[in-house]
Amino acid sequence: MPPAVLPALPCFLNGEYTLLPDAKISVMDRGFIFGDGVYEVLPVYGRCLFRFEQHMDRLERGLAELRIPNHRTRAQWREIAERLVADFARGNDADPEKLDQLVYIQVTRGVAMRDHAMPPSPTPTVFVMTNVMKPPSESERREGVACVTAQDFRWQKAHIKTTSLLGAVFARQIGVDAGATETIMFRDDWLSEGASSNVWIVKNGVLVGPPRDNRILEGIRYGLLEELCSLEGIPMELRPVSRAEVLAADEVLLSSATKEVLPVTLIDGSAVGDGRPGPVYAQLHAGYQAAKLQARLRRPS
Ligand code: PDD
Repeated sequence: MPPAVLPALPCFLNGEYTLLPDAKISVMDRGFIFGDGVYEVLPVYGRCLFRFEQHMDRLERGLAELRIPNHRTRAQWREIAERLVADFARGNDADPEKLDQLVYIQVTRGVAMRDHAMPPSPTPTVFVMTNVMKPPSESERREGVACVTAQDFRWQKAHIKTTSLLGAVFARQIGVDAGATETIMFRDDWLSEGASSNVWIVKNGVLVGPPRDNRILEGIRYGLLEELCSLEGIPMELRPVSRAEVLAADEVLLSSATKEVLPVTLIDGSAVGDGRPGPVYAQLHAGYQAAKLQARLRRPS
C-alpha cells in the first residue's frame, strides 16, 4: 500500500513552519519508539484559543511529571498556535472569524538511541498543527449518542495526557466495532472515563463526575463545567461513581474539547433515563455555547 497522502496543512516542527507532508522526524524519536511524550488538543473559536491558559497548565504539569524540559514560554506557544490558525484560514480562503479550528500540540522527549531509561538532557521534539474543528452534529445533539461499556484496562497514570494512547485506541475501537460514539470505561465497576472524553451523570438534578485523580484525565472541561454549574445553579459533586449509578442515571453526558458537552441516550443498548437528552444537558449546552461566544468576542485584534 502506498503511504497515506497527507493534506498540505500548516504545521510547526522544531522551530520551522512547514506543511504536514514535509514535516519529518527521526525514526529514533522517543515519541515514535516509546510513545514518550504529551499532547494537547485546544479548540479555537474564531481566532480565540479557547481556555489557552488551562491547556498550558496541563501541558506544563505533564511535561514536569515526565521530566521533559519545556523550552517555550506561554507567549511563544501562543504565537505558534495563532500563526498556524491564521495560516490555515488564509490557505483555505476562509474567514478566520467564522472558522472553528483545533490546535494539536505534541512534545516528545526527542531523539536518542533506544534505551528505556530517560536520557538525562533531552532535546524535545515539538510539533504543532491545526485543522478544522468538527463539532457534534445537530442530530447527535437532538437525539443523544450511543455508548458501550468496557473494563478500563489502561495504566495507573491516566491523569497524564500522554501520546502513549494504545489503551485508548483499543477502548475506542470497542465502541467503533459496536457502532457506538464512545466507550465508557470502569475500573472494578467504578466509572473512570471515555476513551477520549470525560463522563458525567445527572441524578435528581445534581451533576456528578469522578474525582480528579490518577484514574482519569482531568479534562479542561472539568473547570468549565464547574463554572457553568455555578452560573446556572446546578449542584455539582466530584466523587466515585458506581456502574449501578451510571446505569440508573437520569442523564449521562460526555465532555471533551471536540465533543463539548454531549448527551448519551443509550448505554449497551439500554435507554438512559427517558431515552432523550435531559434538562441539565440543555442548560450546560446553552452555557457552553455562551462561553464560546464570549471567547470569540475577546479574540485578539
Ligand atoms: N481527548 N479523557 C480522555 C482520556 C481524553 O483523551 C480527553 C480528551 C478527555 C477530555 O479532555 P478535554 O476536556 O481537555 O478535551 C478526557 C482529546 C480531545 C483527544 O485525545 O483528542
